[in-house]
Amino acid sequence: MAPSPNQEKIVLVSGGNRGIGFEVCRQLAKEGLHVILGSRDRDKGRSAVDRLSKDGIKVRSLQLDVADPRSIQSVKSAIEGDYGRLDILINNAGVYLDEVAGILKMDERVFRETMEVNFYGPLRLCRAFVPRMIAQGYGRVVNVSSGLGAMDDLSGRSAAYGLSKLVLNGLTRVVADQTGRVDVKVNSACPGWVRTEMGGSSAPRSPEKGAETIVWLATLDKDGPTGGFFRDRKSIPW
Ligand SMILES: NC(=O)c1ccc[n+]([C@@H]2O[C@H](COP(=O)([O-])OP(=O)(O)OC[C@H]3O[C@@H](n4cnc5c(N)ncnc54)[C@H](OP(=O)(O)O)[C@@H]3O)[C@@H](O)[C@H]2O)c1
Repeated sequence: MAPSPNQEKIVLVSGGNRGIGFEVCRQLAKEGLHVILGSRDRDKGRSAVDRLSKDGIKVRSLQLDVADPRSIQSVKSAIEGDYGRLDILINNAGVYLDEVAGILKMDERVFRETMEVNFYGPLRLCRAFVPRMIAQGYGRVVNVSSGLGAMDDLSGRSAAYGLSKLVLNGLTRVVADQTGRVDVKVNSACPGWVRTEMGGSSAPRSPEKGAETIVWLATLDKDGPTGGFFRDRKSIPW
């Protein structure tokens, strides 16, 4: 059954223990959603829940390593067992592992490890949860991508990361294509350059700002877009 308009929506955020994902958890919980904060490390997840709880914000954490199919399966079982459905999936977990050597010299393992988290993780989570969203006739998926994955902005210096986000954007399109006419919306978001462990301290944007478009796409109403790529709530080129 899809959630009724007044029913609390259930949302899973991968990589919710820090950075943009943590802020997305905070903003969505403040909007009254039931937030499941996915964290690769169980203790980091608990400490993130405690930090939010000190601000009066209640979320639940589940151990979730997006590179481990068994971890995804156990999150799926826990969510199906406890709630019977997932309404919103935020594929936020990501890594930037590129070395200065660039595409022609970098160790091939960098490409594999980057794809494992940035592409196969979201692919696995979509396959775990989107069929049920389609069956219930409601769902929102936000793939947290990057302008570095836009075709015109690909660069040899961030090749593994950029290509992983390019393919992630492709995933947005193909999953959106599978949802037919039901109210399931699948979009990519670029948060901009954000001050996190990945973005570094010189980035101009706060995590609050970086989370905004992701939260907007997660809470779109039924007239909202699907199969698009957005920054600052505006469509941007693939
Ligand atoms: N910051 C930017 O400027 C920027 C710009 C464009 C796009 N993005 C995208 O925004 C998203 C969030 O980035 P961020 O800046 O918040 O990065 P961050 O501070 O480095 O946080 C990354 C998060 O992903 C998690 N993660 C990494 N590998 C994982 C795995 N195998 N399973 C589950 N979680 C895993 C990390 O968990 P651990 O704590 O366990 O490592 C952490 O929670 C990423 O997809 C990134 O590509 C960021």
